[in-house]
Amino acid sequence: MAAYSDLVVEHFQHPRNAGEMPDPDGEATKSNPVCGDRMRVMIRVADGRIAEVRWQTRGCPPAIATSSVASEMVTGWDLERVEELTREAIAEAVGGLPKDKVHCSVLAADALRAAIADYRSRRQA
Ligand code: FES
Repeated sequence: MAAYSDLVVEHFQHPRNAGEMPDPDGEATKSNPVCGDRMRVMIRVADGRIAEVRWQTRGCPPAIATSSVASEMVTGWDLERVEELTREAIAEAVGGLPKDKVHCSVLAADALRAAIADYRSRRQA
């Protein structure tokens, strides 16, 4: 994995917050249109903030690493801030990605936004 930053390698080998969450407040599964890799994300919300994130990603090392980093980044953030999180910010947070892997950071950003949308629609129901 020489083309990857130390952070990508570290998070790929030791992913944070990976796994299942019973009865999440919101959840979503997204596929990457470029390669078909998938991420499922589950969130717990308290006082308008992300209290906990769990995720399950089937994908390449950057997809795993960006899932891990994003889950750490957004814990404690208010929902509006998470909705504005860009894939570029996630890619930057893992120390950058090789050009042909920049698309991998889209999964975490999209899945988190979709999980928040699911949370909001559950509350309206
Ligand atoms: Fe599919 Fe990276 S190659 S997310």
